Amino acid sequence: MKFFADTAEVDAIRSLEEAGLIDGVTTNPSLIKKSGRAFRQVVEEICAVTKGPVSAEVTAVNAQAMIDEGQSLAAIANNITVKLPLTVEGLKACRALTRDGVMTNVTLCFSAPQALLAAKAGATFISPFVGRLDDIHTDGMALIQDIRTIYDNYDYKTEVLAASIRTPNHIKECAIAGADVATAPPDVLWRLAEHPLTHSGLDAFLKDWQATGQSVI
Ligand code: G3P
Repeated sequence: MKFFADTAEVDAIRSLEEAGLIDGVTTNPSLIKKSGRAFRQVVEEICAVTKGPVSAEVTAVNAQAMIDEGQSLAAIANNITVKLPLTVEGLKACRALTRDGVMTNVTLCFSAPQALLAAKAGATFISPFVGRLDDIHTDGMALIQDIRTIYDNYDYKTEVLAASIRTPNHIKECAIAGADVATAPPDVLWRLAEHPLTHSGLDAFLKDWQATGQSVI
């Protein structure tokens, strides 16, 4: 399973990359706004920090304008993945950009039929939003399971990129459901390694070791 950092904060991405915790990055217009920085500058810096796929989202709403924006974004770096909304226009742009060899991430997916259309359009990644479905008392994880089943039934190569991830448990459940990627905020990724019993157990080992007066080297 791959982990992507869902953020536009370059320093946070660099720390995760240096720790070997991430395989790519996803951004969206809201995350760019939160960064308070110029879109293309931030994307260029992110592409230099990680070699993995970096999702940058178009903001046009008709296919040709999306294609134009997507080609412009793809020219920034070879690890750019053009993020397109799951609309009919976005699917048309996905088909065209994929045909041109551009990596695509079809986002704002909330149903299995939507995901099926994205795979048929040749999307590199599909981004079903787990947390936002949970927010409206719908089972977001069931969507991941349904997409995995459908993609396996037809051997679609589109990678399931679970998004709108809010907790380490979301990541565990996505891994069990067979998602290829989970994209999550940095704090969620850092918490994956944390467990109170690990800390207390290590403290006890080190206390006992100190009492022996010995050293390993
Ligand atoms: O990549 C999509 C993600 O940023 C959305 O997360 O928590 O706003 O639903 P959230």
